[in-house]
Formats: sequence, structure tokens, C-alpha cells
Amino acid sequence: MKLCYIVGYPVEHSMSPAMHNAAFKALGLDAEYRMAPVEPGRLGAFIEHLRESDVMGASVTIPHKVEVMRHIADIDETARAIGAVNTVVHTDDVLNGYNTDATGGVKALTEAYGGLEGSKVTILGAGGASRAITYGVSRVECMVTVLNRGVDRARSLVEDLRPTASAELSYGALNQLPAFIEGTDVLINTTSVGMSPNSSDSPVPEGLLHGGLFVYDVIYNPMKTRLLRDAEKKGAGVLSGVKMLVYQGAEAFKMWTGAEPPIDLMQRVVEERLGGGTG
Ligand code: ATR
Repeated sequence: MKLCYIVGYPVEHSMSPAMHNAAFKALGLDAEYRMAPVEPGRLGAFIEHLRESDVMGASVTIPHKVEVMRHIADIDETARAIGAVNTVVHTDDVLNGYNTDATGGVKALTEAYGGLEGSKVTILGAGGASRAITYGVSRVECMVTVLNRGVDRARSLVEDLRPTASAELSYGALNQLPAFIEGTDVLINTTSVGMSPNSSDSPVPEGLLHGGLFVYDVIYNPMKTRLLRDAEKKGAGVLSGVKMLVYQGAEAFKMWTGAEPPIDLMQRVVEERLGGGTG
């Protein structure tokens, strides 16, 4: 039997084991996806375990997405530019590091919204999730502004990504949102504000939202955040983080197995587990 892991701390609440195990089963693959709770500081020893012959690879999650890069020699260009690895693939005795959050997140967005060319995109947050999304969006010729509570973090993110970006990148403080939101086409929340169990919170005061926006919240629990509910009331288009979760997983699945991932099934499994969207 072949093995895959999700390595993080904690990992108990992850949707990924159910999603990938259902996909292995549906395709009749003799494989299992297991949880690997690995405490900070113990990652190196665990990574060695991934070199065993029956291991296909791993998903990497908080708090190891940056640290893992110190233990793996072969890191692809996207993951390097983002500064984080979320997928490790084991082939022929070599471990390769990738980041499927950027491609998964932007694929979900462009499917729902359409092409981003020429759009004004405002991204809230400058943490790990923002680095992946901002990298992905900035491959396209559009205007991107990153707003963060701590403006220094937004500045360093933008300065890191600017040299390779096709988009025009700027940054500011989260409290400047009122000045930006009127001209924004696509508003993306990458902050943790509104995530379960704090699902009555929103990073955007309701009064600022308008019907000309498309609002993408990368949070998937709850499936419909307060921000998305408020935006819908104003007639804005909305997208939750569920598709991003599924697409980043599907891309990893394809790299591990070489098989076409059963995306609809993977999404159904995640939605069933998240159950109704109340978090
Ligand atoms: P992740 O890897 O999930 O992005 P992170 O790196 O801890 O997590 O980043 C969390 C993001 O949410 C940051 O942009 C953070 O803002 P700061 O950099 O200013 O801390 C943002 N965030 C968290 N709580 C917030 C709050 N109450 N209001 C505004 N932004 C918040």
C-alpha cells in the first residue's frame, strides 16, 4: 500500500484525509492518506520518513509550510517565489517541494469570476494565505493592492513579489479600505477574520460593500462567512474557499498518483464534512 500524509500541528480538523481517501477509493488505488501531527522542531525527522519507498508524498500545513523548505533541496519556482511549500512529492528517492495554493486559489477564482486582466483586485491580509493568492493573482496583468492591519507585512510581501509580477502591485493599511473599495472589482479576504468559531466577525464593515464587487473569501469554514453573506445581500458575486481547498488538493493528488483526481467527489466530501455552512 502507498502512503501520503498531512503534516502539521494540529492536523485533527483537516478536511484533507477524508477528501484524499475518498479519491483513492473511488479510483481503486491501494493508498492511504494519514494524519501526521508533528510538533514544531520535529519536522526534520519526519521528512526523512517521507523518503521510504511506500510514501508518495505529503501535504504540508501550519506551522511547517516555511520550515519544510530547509529540509528539501528541490523546490519549484512558484513555491520558492511564494516562500512556502504545501505539497511534497516523493519520486525516485527525491523529495520535491511545490505550492499548489496559488494555482488552486486562482483557478477557483477565474472559474467563478472570469479572467482578471485589467481588473482592480484588493487583497486583505498579508500572511501565508495572502502570499500564495497574491503571487497567483499577480501573474496576470491587473492592478493589485494588498491591505493589511500591520502595513509593514503588506509592504514586504509586495516588495518580494513585485520583481516577477505581471500585475501592478501596491500596498496599504487595512484601515485604508474605505478609500479603495469603491473602485475595486475583486475583493479577496485572506485574513483569518470570520473563521470558525468566530463566524460572526467580518474583516469588512457591511456598509462598505457594494453590488459591483466580486468577493472571494479563502476561508472555507464556515462555507459561507459573514463577509460573503453581507456581500450577497448587496448583490455582489461571491466565492468561498472550498473550491481552493479542493483544487489545491486535487493538484497534489495528481502529482502523487499521476491519476486524474475525481474533483466533484472531493468537493462533495468536503462540503458534507463542513455541513451546511454554519461552521
Ligand atoms: P495565514 O497563513 O492563514 O495567512 P497568518 O500568517 O497568521 O495566517 O496571517 C493572518 C492574517 O490575518 C494576517 O494578515 C493578519 O494581519 P496582521 O499581519 O496585521 O497580524 C490578519 N489578521 C488576523 N487577525 C486579524 C484581525 N483581527 N484584524 C485584521 N487582520 C487580522
